[in-house]
Amino acid sequence: MDKKIIVANWKSNKTASEALQFLKEFKEGLGAVEFSSIEIIILPQFLSIPYCFKFIQENNLPISLGVQTVSSFVDGPYTGEVSARFVKEFCSYVLLNHSERKKYAKETDEDLKNKFARAVEIGLTPLVCVQDEGSFFPESAKYVVFEPPSAISTFGTGKAQTREEVESAIATIKGKSDAKVLYGGSVSPEDIGEYLKIENLSGFLVGAASLESSSFLALLKKC
Ligand code: PGA
Repeated sequence: MDKKIIVANWKSNKTASEALQFLKEFKEGLGAVEFSSIEIIILPQFLSIPYCFKFIQENNLPISLGVQTVSSFVDGPYTGEVSARFVKEFCSYVLLNHSERKKYAKETDEDLKNKFARAVEIGLTPLVCVQDEGSFFPESAKYVVFEPPSAISTFGTGKAQTREEVESAIATIKGKSDAKVLYGGSVSPEDIGEYLKIENLSGFLVGAASLESSSFLALLKKC
């Protein structure tokens, strides 16, 4: 059976020292538990990433790292940009097309195409968010995250999708692609069990419930 992929989207939260504090608590809480059926991916803000990378390596934690976005450009004269090549030193994954990037940074399908191309050419794996089952995503995407904005805990109504709604969206996405499909939107230790019953669901994108090590560990232990 494929491993379930659990992605912690820390958004614009946690300084580098707060991120390290989380990882220390996570390590203590983990104890002897082995998550052999889960792949854990954490997406910290850019500045914490090298610190998290070092801590994870030194402590042999079962965590991969990713970024929450990446530049549309390669490295060069693009002031303020963080290119895929810089990210690749520390991370395996990149989240693209998140609703908050679309709303606050006005990202478009064109940006998604460019960022996707920059990520793939450097060897990062994109996790592509779609806002509904009909939204555009690159044909070669291996991971698609179904996350309607209304379901995000801090956005819209914050009302999680029902199991049936997620099932129906997965069927539509799977009808046009071989991508693995994840669900995101107000996933919590309390409701994750219901979604785990969905046969074709490959994992979750978790925001608020990933910010405290205790609730994130509680969620992982349900998987
Ligand atoms: P949420 O965030 O789990 O707090 O709803 C998910 C996300 O926006 O990635």
